[in-house]
Amino acid sequence: MADNRIINSGKHIGKVLITDDGKSLLSAIEKETEGRERIVITDRYVASYHRDMANISDMTAESSEEKKNLSSIEDIASFMLERNIGRNAVLVGIGGGIITDMCGFAASIYKRGISCINIPTTLLSQVDASVGGKTGVNLHGYKNILGTITQPQATIIYTGFLETLPYTEIRSGLAELVKTALIRSEEFYDECLESCSMEGWYKNAGSMTALIEKACLTKLEIVEKDPYEKGLRRILNLGHTYGHAIEKYRIDRKSEISHGEAVAEGIIIAAKISERLSIAPKGFSESLENDFRKLDLPVSGLAPLDKISGFVSNDKKADGGNINFITIAAPGKVEQISINIRELERICLSLQ
Ligand SMILES: NC(=O)c1ccc[n+]([C@@H]2O[C@H](COP(=O)([O-])OP(=O)(O)OC[C@H]3O[C@@H](n4cnc5c(N)ncnc54)[C@H](O)[C@@H]3O)[C@@H](O)[C@H]2O)c1
Repeated sequence: MADNRIINSGKHIGKVLITDDGKSLLSAIEKETEGRERIVITDRYVASYHRDMANISDMTAESSEEKKNLSSIEDIASFMLERNIGRNAVLVGIGGGIITDMCGFAASIYKRGISCINIPTTLLSQVDASVGGKTGVNLHGYKNILGTITQPQATIIYTGFLETLPYTEIRSGLAELVKTALIRSEEFYDECLESCSMEGWYKNAGSMTALIEKACLTKLEIVEKDPYEKGLRRILNLGHTYGHAIEKYRIDRKSEISHGEAVAEGIIIAAKISERLSIAPKGFSESLENDFRKLDLPVSGLAPLDKISGFVSNDKKADGGNINFITIAAPGKVEQISINIRELERICLSLQ
């Protein structure tokens, strides 16, 4: 697959291209930015491992949840302003979800909006964060509480970036991949289980590309139907209510874990709550836990439930006394319900 293959032509959402060839990536960046001012911001580890990216980069940035804040957005905007970057420019973000979320946000508000191109370099950003148009930063430890939904002009996925990604980050991306598979169908979930429980699975470029492509397509199909998250798109938040609460707990204690790890445990909590609500059959969460263990994903212990149960009232999905919560009854059977926040807190506490 030397050329860029188009996964989605981007009628209402950003165009997505995938390639396993570094030269094709560079030519796609040139083509997408041709004739316009271009600012390239690159994750500092990516710049140190991938010389081609360092060569086209104007600025390197640190990827940490602590630095994913308004002050970093101000730095990016000031950098562009100092160089008189105009409204016709395009901002290219090369990095994981932190860089693409921040560049997307900066681009969406700089001079009331300029174009943005995402070049995702982690598994998590390739299967999830770089497509769909959500951008944002954290405030007071609350994840992505400030942000916009602005579609990128394009997302260009180069699977070769994954060769330098540490295993912990592969595992983090695996959690979002599994989440998407659970949302799509039993067939996709089984495919993930089969491919990803083998030792060194992530070194198999062919199966990786196929899984990334399928996950992207799943998300794109959902986002295309509901770009502004008025309904259907909310199912992509499976595992995120408690995932975000776990992340906040860990950020507050300066013992960050990866987004994917938090989401994995968040999915297990969602499955347990679905059982308590009689939406899932008894034993479902246990079988999911067994699967997750085979995939080396965390299932418990990242944060005490009595410390995170109260966080949900500040969740973006909370509205008055109720919250939109995503339940799961089986792979491919994911649904949104509106539930009273106190009731949800009570059930969460009873899981201890
Ligand atoms: N916008 C969305 O729809 C969406 C969806 C899911 C997650 N997110 C956001 O994504 C963020 C997490 O993204 P992430 O998991 O990609 O983490 P990340 O951006 O922090 O990257 C993880 C680590 O890997 C390093 N890295 C990146 N690419 C590398 C490479 N190719 N080789 C070596 N090291 C590399 C980074 O420097 C960083 O240390 C969270 O802030 C989350 O909120 C957004």
